[in-house]
Formats: sequence, C-alpha cells, structure tokens
Amino acid sequence: MRAKKPQAKRPARTDVPDDAVSLLMADHRKVEKLFKKSEKASGREKEALVKQICAELIVHTTLEEDIFYPACREQGVEEDAMDEAQVEHDGAKFLIADLLNQSAASDCYDAKVTVLTEYIKHHVQEEEKPRSGIFAKARAKGLDLDAIGAQLQERKESLMADPEDLPAPTPKTIGLSTLAT
Ligand SMILES: [Fe+2]
Ligand SMILES: [Fe+2]
Repeated sequence: MRAKKPQAKRPARTDVPDDAVSLLMADHRKVEKLFKKSEKASGREKEALVKQICAELIVHTTLEEDIFYPACREQGVEEDAMDEAQVEHDGAKFLIADLLNQSAASDCYDAKVTVLTEYIKHHVQEEEKPRSGIFAKARAKGLDLDAIGAQLQERKESLMADPEDLPAPTPKTIGLSTLAT
C-alpha cells in the first residue's frame, strides 16, 4: 500500500475577495440570490427582501460610481461604455428610491420589483461580458485591481457600518426637469 502523500496545507479560506472585480462580482451574485428569493416571497417577507436588495444596490452603485468607474475612466476605458453604465445606474435609482417608500400592498409593487430585477440583470450581464464588458476592459487596461479592491472593501465597510444612513439614490445623468409642465 502506498503511503498517503502529506497534503499541502491550504491557506485559510476567507470570504473577503481581494481584487476589485471579484468583490463587485460577489455583490452581483448576492443580489441575484436575493432577487430569486423575492420572486417566491410575498407580503412583509417580500418587502423586507426588497428593502435589503435596495440597500445592497445603493452600496454597490456607490462603490462603483465613487471608486471603480472613475478608476476605469482614468485608465482609459472607453467613455461610451462608462457613460452607458452610469445611465443604467441612474435609471435603476428611480425604482430603488420609489420601492424604498412603498409597501407590498402599493400599486404596481410586484411589477416594479420585476422591472428592477430585469434591469439589474441586464446591467450585470453588460458589466461582466467576457471581452467587451467594463470588468474585462478594466483588466485589459491594466487597472490595479488589488489596490482598488482594498479601497472598495474599506468604503463598503464604512457604508455598511450605518445601514440606516446610506446615501439617497441620486441620479447623476437623468433629471425629471424635462417632464415638468
Ligand atoms: Fe454597475
Ligand atoms: Fe456592478
């Protein structure tokens, strides 16, 4: 019988991803799971899940807009792609802001959650596209993903420290002034 080779000790597993793209993708997966759960929920349970989704999205969009997207722009990721991502965030913010103030009994509540789900799904697919997505472009342009990941992690911890005091979802590129009569 052959003696068993001593197994190399694996480094302790940590749930904290260390590079920017891994961290942002982990957020995407978390929100996807919450959306899935919310599809099967109703009433108070759905409301709580939707509030959690909105909070996660506020934190995620803040991290991207304050740290990751500016780093991408600075490193030369195409303006068009970055502008499109920003406009998609801004469109979602209207639904997020609205849903935070609604109950499951409100008009069109389920429809709004469904539209937000689809909207975020599309945005996430765009960001993660293998060659043409922002994440792939960020890698191709040589962003220091470890350094940016550390900044994202630090900011995330400070935002999560006070979940009652998250920034209000504020669109940067779309206003409602054009609708005023
Ligand atoms: Fe995004
Ligand atoms: Fe994202």
